[in-house]
Amino acid sequence: MAHQPFKVLVTEPIPDKVISYLEEYAEVHIGKKSEFQEEENLKKAIPKYDALLCMLSNPISKSVLEAGSNLKIVANFAVGYNNIDIEAARSLNIKVANTPDVLTEACGDFAMGLLMAVTRRFNEAERYLKEGRFTGWEPLGFLGMELRGKTLGIVGMGRIGQSFAHRAKAFGMNIAYHNRSPVSSATEKELNAKYITSLEELATTSDVLSLNCPLTEETHHLIGDDIFKIMPSHSVLINISRGPVVDESALANALTSNNIAGAGIDVFEEEPKVHPKLLAAPNCILLPHIASATFETREAIGLLASKAIVSVLSGKADNSIPNLI
Ligand code: DGY
Repeated sequence: MAHQPFKVLVTEPIPDKVISYLEEYAEVHIGKKSEFQEEENLKKAIPKYDALLCMLSNPISKSVLEAGSNLKIVANFAVGYNNIDIEAARSLNIKVANTPDVLTEACGDFAMGLLMAVTRRFNEAERYLKEGRFTGWEPLGFLGMELRGKTLGIVGMGRIGQSFAHRAKAFGMNIAYHNRSPVSSATEKELNAKYITSLEELATTSDVLSLNCPLTEETHHLIGDDIFKIMPSHSVLINISRGPVVDESALANALTSNNIAGAGIDVFEEEPKVHPKLLAAPNCILLPHIASATFETREAIGLLASKAIVSVLSGKADNSIPNLI
């Protein structure tokens, strides 16, 4: 390989095709799994790199960014970027990129699958069969909630919320949503979606409450005791956004006391830790943050993030790069 003028740190192993793409422009160092979940490790490593391709599990704090004396861009291998101190990056003149659009469909598929798994009790029924307890077809075995005619209440009607809504509509669900402001009337019409101004009203009138909003100061613990108390007792919660949007302990209590009927959770307050009460709670499917985990999508995420890196390092970054924040 010819000498490359730039150095890029990729904090975890990612698809080979993405690494090959980056290696055409830069010398690439790939971290080991979880190596850079520690802020101290990042601070130590970062001074020699021109660009960072990081994961949502890497804390890109102000002090990490300040330690990056050569750092020109941080590209997050994710659409959510709550792990990055955007203000600090701005003040240090470090560009930040994320990966919108490329994971929308994978996440929409996943939300639909998770909803089916929760309402039709896939995991519980599979466990029953594998434990050898299936002794014949049971007319009352594993009854669940049918989706047709039920209301899906979406909190955060962005790209992923809309892709879930499209699928749910095809399953015969009614779509309602709560957002900072209504989506376009064309989108509302296409999805037959109803804008609900208050979160409380959405929570009381939905059979399924789905969280698809970013994590911000405003959405931290948006769903807690007060919301679980007003959700219908047959309703379920789906969270594929960010863990801290839900008060995990309140969710565990709501499940244990049958305040709600079930939950499908892909994200946690303190990943990779899961609240022990939630691990022990009934009727919930807990998954290790895999909504975007398809071969196609993870490659597309990596390439999009890398393109932003290459454009910044080669001095061609301008406002036409859609994923620069
Ligand atoms: C993201 O990109 O923010 C997702 O959480 C990845 O699954």
